[in-house]
Amino acid sequence: MQPFTTHAGTAAPLPRTNVDTDTVIRIDRLIEHGRGELGPYCFEALRYRPDGAEDPDFPPNQPRYRGASILVAGDNFGCGSSREAAVWSLMDYGLRCIIAPSFGDIFTANSFQNGLLPIRLPGEIVDGIMAELAADGAAPRLSVDLVAREVLTPSGKRIAFEIDDERRDALLEGLDEIGLTLKDASMIDKFQADDRIARPWVYGKTAANQATRLLILAGDGIGPEILREVRRVVEWFRDARGLPIDLEEELFGIAAWNAHGSLMPEATWNAVTGADAILFGAIGSPDYEKIPAEARKVDQLLRMRKELDLFINYRPVSLTPGLADASTLRPEVVDGTDMVLVRELSGGIYFGTPRGITTLPDGRRQAVNTLVYAEDEIRRIARAAFELARTRAGRVCSVDKANVLESGALWRDVVQKLRDESYPDIDLSHMYVDNCAMQLVRAPRQFDVIVTENLFGDILSDCAAMIAGSLGMLPSVSMSAEDEDGKRKALYEPIHGSAPDIAGKGIANPLGAILSFALCLRYTFGLPQEAARLEAAVQRAIAAGARTADIAGGAKSLSTVQMGDAVLGELMRAKG
Ligand code: IPM
Ligand code: MG
Repeated sequence: MQPFTTHAGTAAPLPRTNVDTDTVIRIDRLIEHGRGELGPYCFEALRYRPDGAEDPDFPPNQPRYRGASILVAGDNFGCGSSREAAVWSLMDYGLRCIIAPSFGDIFTANSFQNGLLPIRLPGEIVDGIMAELAADGAAPRLSVDLVAREVLTPSGKRIAFEIDDERRDALLEGLDEIGLTLKDASMIDKFQADDRIARPWVYGKTAANQATRLLILAGDGIGPEILREVRRVVEWFRDARGLPIDLEEELFGIAAWNAHGSLMPEATWNAVTGADAILFGAIGSPDYEKIPAEARKVDQLLRMRKELDLFINYRPVSLTPGLADASTLRPEVVDGTDMVLVRELSGGIYFGTPRGITTLPDGRRQAVNTLVYAEDEIRRIARAAFELARTRAGRVCSVDKANVLESGALWRDVVQKLRDESYPDIDLSHMYVDNCAMQLVRAPRQFDVIVTENLFGDILSDCAAMIAGSLGMLPSVSMSAEDEDGKRKALYEPIHGSAPDIAGKGIANPLGAILSFALCLRYTFGLPQEAARLEAAVQRAIAAGARTADIAGGAKSLSTVQMGDAVLGELMRAKG
């Protein structure tokens, strides 16, 4: 784009209001003519009489204004359904600047974008300039000085005008929007390079990489029936959206025990360690009582969390539009809630030692568990929470029991120090866990990001889930630290668990699991737009009345498969 600094030239009046962009250029001309060829068609309806001769009543046709490069026009110039071609045709016609009391908004943007300067001046001043042009001799001239923000009239009057600084700078440098952005290219590159290191999962994989390996572990209870719906959604994204996905499925839990005599057969474990991401259903079933205690001593979900070091657990909680009634809390309390609970997932009392049940010398049994956290474990989860908050409202509430537990006192100290040293932009508050439980149901909107240790996070996330109306709606992701390639292992699971009471009935809500795959699109694939596509499809299905029993409030409800159909139907209907 040509820079605009100063310009002097013949100025023509066009004392008409509401000259719209159709008057500037007829749409049918654009079918045959492109940019650079539009001059002859500019202002066609005003410029020519029906017989094709020039209309002398159109001022720029008059000999004294011939070749004008500045137009002084009436109110609301360039209104109507603006098209960029209107600006092109004006420029092809020879204009560089238009002075008017007001302009159409899109026209203004298009003008700056293409190097045509629109100057707004009060109506009486514009009238005054037109009068001067009429009174002056042949070829009355105006000078426009964008550097000084002044118009110089034939009589020598200097008229100051106002203009947005950023747009002025862009014109002075001859930069359109792309040019402006590229000006900051080195800053953008640096930001992206830093950000890639800080949040690699946002960027996903490069095209050169192979397909993402997704492993489905449906597990126990309602896991298989809901993961069947997730699989259909995953296959849709693979087949219809062309995502490079390598999808496998392995037995886990009771089904694996029945087939292979192990809750986590070796083939399954190999697939777990080899996968980029795991889509997990649920664990837990009364059938566990029937297998030898030794075989179920190790909880296989906790094993995956520990061995893959999935220490970051995001549990987003927001109220799905249309589901306020499904919550046991009043709509005015839950409306607008949008928070993420960040739970530390691979430490604390879940894994601390010593642990176990012993028998005391006097024969009484005694059980012990240990709530232990080292500083670095606290720091890395706090960092994850701060990073997440930076992509949201920037508020973190750290939850502990510092008034009673040493582990809580250390937690509070480490989180605060990290905030002071590295995240001064984050608004950090601390809350005792008992108070937090109350605040979640009293005023949940106050929270943006909550960060807390493993056990508190387990309890508070179930509590927070009731805000969304049903445990069945809520997704989660558990992630590791990044490896040397900047990749994180991730496990996606709905937070509802195995619900053995309804297992096999085909009535479970698959949306928590489907929305967990949306998180997978966001974090493992680094495709926020595809994630939003899926989330929007779920919302539209809900808006259209699709409800499984847990959110139907007694009204007619869909089966698990029908809910899957509803989401897929919305995905297929969506354009683009
Ligand atoms: C959860 C679950 C698990 C937990 C169970 C199934 C071990 O309640 O993910 O919240 O306590 O972490
Ligand atoms: Mg739980």
